[in-house]
Amino acid sequence: MIAFPANSQQVSLAKWMTSEADFSLTPMSQNISPSGTVRGVIIASPSRQDPDYYFHWIRDSALVMDTLLTLSPGASNQSPWLLQTFADYAAFSRELQLTTTLTGLGEPRFNVDGTAFNGPWARPQNDGPALRVLTVLHSIQRFHASTALLSTILQTDLRYILTNFQVPSFDLWEEVKGDHFYTRLVQMAALRAGLDHFDPGWNIPRQDLQTAITSLQNDLDLHWRSDKKYFSATLNRVEGAEAYKFTDLDTAVILGVLHANLDSDNFSVRDDRVLATASQLETVFLAIYNVNANTYSTPYPVAPAIGRYADDVYFGGNPWYITTSAFAELNYRLSLSLAKNKSYMITELNLPFLKKALALRSEANVIKLKTGVNLKGHPHLLKLLQQGLKARGDLFMARLRLHTPPEGAMAEQFERNDGHPVSARDLTWSYASFLSAFESRKALSK
Ligand code: NOJ
Ligand code: NOJ
Repeated sequence: MIAFPANSQQVSLAKWMTSEADFSLTPMSQNISPSGTVRGVIIASPSRQDPDYYFHWIRDSALVMDTLLTLSPGASNQSPWLLQTFADYAAFSRELQLTTTLTGLGEPRFNVDGTAFNGPWARPQNDGPALRVLTVLHSIQRFHASTALLSTILQTDLRYILTNFQVPSFDLWEEVKGDHFYTRLVQMAALRAGLDHFDPGWNIPRQDLQTAITSLQNDLDLHWRSDKKYFSATLNRVEGAEAYKFTDLDTAVILGVLHANLDSDNFSVRDDRVLATASQLETVFLAIYNVNANTYSTPYPVAPAIGRYADDVYFGGNPWYITTSAFAELNYRLSLSLAKNKSYMITELNLPFLKKALALRSEANVIKLKTGVNLKGHPHLLKLLQQGLKARGDLFMARLRLHTPPEGAMAEQFERNDGHPVSARDLTWSYASFLSAFESRKALSK
C-alpha cells in the first residue's frame, strides 16, 4: 500500500516540485534559531523524543546552511533573511569551536543553549569541520565578502582536519568507527577548497595542505573494491554496529560525492566507479523494500526508494528522504556535467547506470550504448543521455512525492512496507536535500 496516491494524481510533477520547494522553506526556517534556543542554532528536527533530535548537529547544520546558500537569489525573496541567518550560523559556529567538549571539534552535536553535549554518543565524527569549511567558503563566494571571523573559523577547522585526517572517527550515520569514504572525501574537498582560497596570512603551512590532499586521494582510492565493483564505505573498521551491519555498500558514498562537489573526474559524479556503486545500491534497495516491489501499482512511474544500506535496522531500516533525493541529484548533476564537458567515456563501470537513463528515451531501442565510446564524438547520443538522466532524476523526485503527505511535510524516513513517514518529523536535512536536488534540476534548464 502506498501512502499518498490520491493527492499525487492531481498535479504534474513539475508543479509538485515547485510547491514542495516553496513549502520547504517554512519548516526549515522554523528549525533555525527557534525560540528558546541560542541564535544560530539549527535543530535537526523539532522532535524531542523517539527520536530526540532537538540538538544542533555540526553535519546537518553545515549541509542545511550550504543548501540555503545555493538557492537561486530571488527564488525565495529572502536575501536579508539569508544574510542574517548565515551571520548567526557563523557567530554560533565560532562559539562552538571555542567550547570545551569531550572530543574538541570532532564533537558531532551540541545542546540548543550552545553548551557541550556530554552524554554518551558516537564520537568523534570528523566530517563536521570539513563540511563547515565548505559551507563557509561557499558563503564567501555567494556574498562576495569575507570577514576576520570567517577566516578564523576556516583556519581552526582546517587545522583540525590536518591534525586528525588519519585518526579513525565515527561515520555520518553515527554507528561505525573507522576510516570512511564519506569523511575522507569531504575532508579532501575542504582542504582543496582551502588551498584554492589560501591566504598567506593564515597560520597554516601551505605545503601541509598539499601533502594531506595527496595522502587523502591515495587513501580514497583504497576504498575501490575491484572485485565487487563498488567503493567500500569503511576501511579499517574499529568498532560499532557489530551486531547488524555487515555490508559495506552504503549510500554514504553517493552523499560524499555530492557534498564534496569536486570538479575533477575522480570522486565526482563523472567517476565511473561512483556510478557503478550507485547502480548496485539501486539494485539492492529495489530488492529489499516492499514499497519498491513491482507488484505495487503506483499512480505514476517512479524510481526505487533509496535507503542508507541494506542491513540498516534504525527504525526498522527504511528508505530515507535524503538518500532518495541524493539519487535524483546524482542524475541531474551528471546530466549538467555532460552538457558542460562532453568528453566522456562509456565504460563497463558506468554502463549500467547510463543504460537506465537511456532506457527512458524512446529512441533507446535503436541506439545501443557501447563501452569504449567517447560521447564527444556522438552528439545525438550525448543529448539523449542528458535528457534521459534528467528524466531519471525526475523519477526519484516522483518517488519522494509518493511518500510526502499533501501538506508537504518530510520526516527522516518512510516505512519500507507501506511508505508512510517515520522517525523524526520535519527533518531539516530532508528539506535541504530535496531543495538541493531541485536546484540542480533548475540548473539544467539554464
Ligand atoms: C543509530 C542510528 O542509525 C544513527 O543514525 C543515530 O544517529 C543514532 N542511532 C543515535 O540515535
Ligand atoms: C541520524 C543520521 O544518521 C545522522 O547523519 C544525522 O546527523 C542525525 N540523524 C541528525 O539528523
